[in-house]
Amino acid sequence: MDKHLLDYNLKVRLPIIAFVVIAVFAITYYASYAERNSIGYTPEQPVKFSHKLHAGSMQIDCKYCHTGVDKSRAASVPSVDICMNCHTLARTDRPEIQKLTSYYKDNKPLEWNRVHKVPQFVYFNHSSHVNKQIDCINCHGDVKAMEVVGQTNSFTMGACLSCHRQPEKKISNFEEIKANLKKGPENCSACHR
Ligand code: HEC
Ligand code: HEC
Ligand code: HEC
Ligand code: HEC
Ligand code: HEC
Repeated sequence: MDKHLLDYNLKVRLPIIAFVVIAVFAITYYASYAERNSIGYTPEQPVKFSHKLHAGSMQIDCKYCHTGVDKSRAASVPSVDICMNCHTLARTDRPEIQKLTSYYKDNKPLEWNRVHKVPQFVYFNHSSHVNKQIDCINCHGDVKAMEVVGQTNSFTMGACLSCHRQPEKKISNFEEIKANLKKGPENCSACHR
């Protein structure tokens, strides 16, 4: 190869390529950062749904809407159909309910913004925690009191491990459930499979 061309490749193109590669990695890595390590992160939602009203005052069971929580990895967020079980009748005069109804009529999914998320390379399973009676409050805070759901705990590796190492300090209902509880795993392959 021509010496000038080689020089050009090394001095100009290589740094540009390296920069682009690093930038792409950083962007994909930090893109999900808010959803796993920013206590207080409270994104606005497309419909003003209140947990304080539905799960707090009306005491609708979490599992009525988050149907996967004791069955699978994902807790899952309810589709509009579940809301319409009540809102074909309840408060149909309100603008937010009319907005909700228009999603339903147009058969359009409601794109709720994620509040908590772990990266792709992490294995987390709701059912294996929830079926051991570890209350949602330990990881999500007092959702029943939240008008808008925000993050109260971080979801970093350190946060997972700190409960796996000292569940007695991190699980509020530990005394009631300890008889049936193992310690959470600390080996890498449990969470990175
Ligand atoms: C079990 C019945 C039930 C289900 C299921 C339900 N709601 Fe409601 N919702 C109600 C009732 C009843 C009210 C009115 C409460 C009041 O004003 O005291 C209400 C109020 C609301 C309001 C406030 C309306 C206003 O402006 O006053 C919104 C917004 C809302 N619901 C959205 C939703 C969404 C979104 C879902 C699905 C994720 C949902 N609801 C599921 C019963 C339900
Ligand atoms: C009537 C349906 C309904 C009930 C009952 C309900 N939720 Fe939700 N939940 C939703 C909807 C809809 C969303 C998505 C919008 C939002 O974040 O407010 C959501 C979001 C959440 C999120 C945030 C998800 C994310 O993106 O990280 C958590 C955590 C949560 N709910 C926990 C609970 C807990 C704990 C209970 C019981 C105390 C509960 N929910 C009861 C409908 C419900
Ligand atoms: C041991 C901690 C822990 C407990 C207990 C827990 N969650 Fe979660 N939750 C998480 C983590 C971690 C995520 C992010 C998961 C992901 O990104 O795959 C999450 C995400 C969610 C989401 C977002 C949607 C989804 O399917 O991932 C909802 C909704 C939710 N949790 C509801 C609940 C409810 C309701 C309970 C109690 C019945 C509960 N969680 C108990 C840690 C927990
Ligand atoms: C509040 C305490 C607590 C937090 C926070 C917590 N865990 Fe756990 N986890 C446990 C306990 C306790 C067990 C063991 C339950 C049993 O089997 O008795 C467990 C078990 C597990 C297991 C083995 C069972 C399975 O599903 O394969 C994995 C994997 C796991 N946790 C991943 C995570 C990850 C990833 C996070 C963070 C995003 C996390 N945990 C956060 C308490 C916690
Ligand atoms: C209890 C679950 C759990 C265990 C056990 C675990 N990790 Fe993680 N790890 C996570 C979570 C959650 C994240 C992503 C959140 C974050 O960036 O902190 C993560 C992120 C990482 C990352 C990405 C860089 C970083 O720090 O964010 C590396 C590398 C990693 N883990 C390596 C390991 C190794 C090596 C082990 C074994 C010594 C291990 N992990 C054990 C949950 C776990």
